[in-house]
Amino acid sequence: MDLKNKTAIVTGASSGIGISFSEKLVQKGTKVYGLARRLNKLREIQNELGELFVPVEMDITQADNIAAWVQSEFNENNLPDILINNAGLGLFGNIDELSVDDWNTMMNTNLNGVFYITKQVVPLLKKNPRHCHIINISSVAGLLGNPQISGYNATKFGLRGFSEALFKELRYDKIKVSTMFPGSIATHFFGDDKESSTHPNMMQPGDVANTLIHLLETPDNLLINEITLRPLNPKNPDDQ
Ligand SMILES: NC(=O)c1ccc[n+]([C@@H]2O[C@H](COP(=O)([O-])OP(=O)(O)OC[C@H]3O[C@@H](n4cnc5c(N)ncnc54)[C@H](OP(=O)(O)O)[C@@H]3O)[C@@H](O)[C@H]2O)c1
Repeated sequence: MDLKNKTAIVTGASSGIGISFSEKLVQKGTKVYGLARRLNKLREIQNELGELFVPVEMDITQADNIAAWVQSEFNENNLPDILINNAGLGLFGNIDELSVDDWNTMMNTNLNGVFYITKQVVPLLKKNPRHCHIINISSVAGLLGNPQISGYNATKFGLRGFSEALFKELRYDKIKVSTMFPGSIATHFFGDDKESSTHPNMMQPGDVANTLIHLLETPDNLLINEITLRPLNPKNPDDQ
């Protein structure tokens, strides 16, 4: 896909890799609707990126609000080309300590929210005469289970199944579906406390965003449906 003059929806655009995705897309000439709950953050990003970045205050756990926004914003003359399902969070702990609220928050954000927005956007992508692309941001936690992250694992494994089914369902509608499985990235995901990062040599958001751009720019009849990203050396080279 040539990204110039295309339209993307990026969820979780107020922080982390969502900012980097938006930045790289805008640099390519794509209009980006950036969705997140913190409108003040989105406005700061618009100040940086300019008018091609459109802030949209949205909690993706609210199905009715998503439906209302999609139906009011898009029509035959303004069709999206790209949906990046990126918003997500991880709440960790042993299973006997994980609260029902935390479990439901992860399910509602990482899995239900993806369904709510994808369901609304796919009919528009089908109407779009151009090739379109949905990219779902899973995690290596969508490939490997580990202690203390069972709830997060369940959402990211679930997202993998959802993505694989959609890739097979939508390919004949000229809609690509890809899933990214990144390892640890230096964002606010683990909190602002340095101690809460998983290791000292995490991947950089801009590098992950370059990979997203590569997936989007592949030729129309070439689909990278799954891609795993890891730091080569998770230890800080300075410590060795
Ligand atoms: N960082 C990592 O190591 C890593 C590794 C693998 C996968 N991932 C995945 O990458 C994605 C982005 O994470 P990140 O690392 O960039 O973390 P981050 O900096 O914490 O960003 C998370 C984003 O999700 C948004 N969000 C959370 N709940 C939302 C809701 N209910 N409605 C709308 N937006 C919501 C947040 O915006 P608001 O708070 O403003 O709503 C924020 O923009 C997540 O799906 C995460 O699981 C991260």
